[in-house]
Amino acid sequence: MDRLVITGGTALRGRIRVSGAKNAALPCIAAALLTEETVTLRNLPAVADIRTMLRVLEALGCGVERVADEAGFELSAAISAQAVGDGGLQAPYDLVKTMRASILVLGPLLARFGRASVSLPGGCAIGARPVNMHLEGLERMGAAILIDKGYVEASVPGGRLKAIDHTFDKVSVGATENLLMAATLAEGTTHLRNAAVEPEIGDLARLLQAMGAAIEGIDTGTLVVHGVERLHGCEHAVIADRIEAGTYLCAVAAAGGDVVLDRVRPDDVRALIDLLERTGCVLTERMGQDGPQLRIQRELGQKLRAKDVTTAPHPAFPTDLQAQVMAVLTQASGISVIKETIFENRFQHAMELERLGANLRIDGSTAIIAGPAPLTGCTVMATDLRASAALIIAGLVASGETTVDRIYHLDRGYAGIDRKLQGVGARIERVSGGSV
Ligand code: UD1
Repeated sequence: MDRLVITGGTALRGRIRVSGAKNAALPCIAAALLTEETVTLRNLPAVADIRTMLRVLEALGCGVERVADEAGFELSAAISAQAVGDGGLQAPYDLVKTMRASILVLGPLLARFGRASVSLPGGCAIGARPVNMHLEGLERMGAAILIDKGYVEASVPGGRLKAIDHTFDKVSVGATENLLMAATLAEGTTHLRNAAVEPEIGDLARLLQAMGAAIEGIDTGTLVVHGVERLHGCEHAVIADRIEAGTYLCAVAAAGGDVVLDRVRPDDVRALIDLLERTGCVLTERMGQDGPQLRIQRELGQKLRAKDVTTAPHPAFPTDLQAQVMAVLTQASGISVIKETIFENRFQHAMELERLGANLRIDGSTAIIAGPAPLTGCTVMATDLRASAALIIAGLVASGETTVDRIYHLDRGYAGIDRKLQGVGARIERVSGGSV
């Protein structure tokens, strides 16, 4: 199993190009099921979760042609769902269990074929993460759903889903995406209220529009979808990954240095920009040849100030950057308080950060961090994707050598994080084999 060995204490300098957004790409891939014509997606990050989602579509009968870019960070995929429906319309457990986002094929399959069988995703390291809101919404649209032998067995007795006026109990990115896709082919006009407004949903909605869907209220909490009879193929470039961009901003904030991020969307990381500015980092936005750029500067020796953070749905502070910002705040002077309001079990990185020397305490969904704490390298292991990123950031700060084990979590969501960090001067090596 691969691991990363990091020698800390080097400031980061140079440029990093942000890859396409994993969490935008996943629903966009599922949306290709809504048409028999070819959907070509560009800027897909070359990460394990994207490969898994493409395999889920292949298991359903799609033809997928992949083309990787030269650096190996991104790929394009031409997806043809023409032959889907000839087989069993089943998304199997062995693929779904490795990635919860596979549940996103349910809405498109029901909308186009009136039936689907999708394995329930099961547990997850960061919390229970049920899919009840996905299923309730689809049931209201006319689907008959039962759970049998671990599978969601769904069918639409009337053949075609019906529009609904639906208010989500709480904000859910995945449930919004699933119902939005289902509504594009439903009969009538659907209103989705209290919908999530994460940038990835705007990207999905724009892909659906390019496929011929009639959607109003994009990027607002109320999506209005006029169902159409059929959708068609198109080409779509996925937006840049705000969480990847945010992770590199946190790396520079913690380790010090001066880095320009290329192809970033500053508004998507506004809550993090605000926070890092308040800790004392200098952030500058400008327009580059390849789109907007974001520069972050923190000179070594410049102290960071402690700040409080509460995670909440967009545009508030994203839960997917909570672990990384905790690593930064271990280096800030004073007491910082982080409240996690989205996932109940998302502080597992805290214990590993403590092993590196962080001074913190967890009380339920609150973390209290006292800094700055001198960190010293040791072997750590991560339980989820973003926790792994936090440990890398801590390793960049720690004196001596830090080994991050179980980096398959990282490879699920970050395209070449080790190579991108090497490119800005970090001493980080991928070591194959051995260990746990
Ligand atoms: C997505 C992101 C994930 C991010 C999360 C929150 C993808 C592939 N993943 O996950 O990286 O951390 O948004 O921004 O885009 N919930 C229910 N019932 C449901 C669905 C959700 O109770 O049917 C709860 C969850 O347990 C959680 C909250 O709602 O407490 C928000 O989850 P949700 O927004 O649905 O997260 P995901 O779409 O799974």
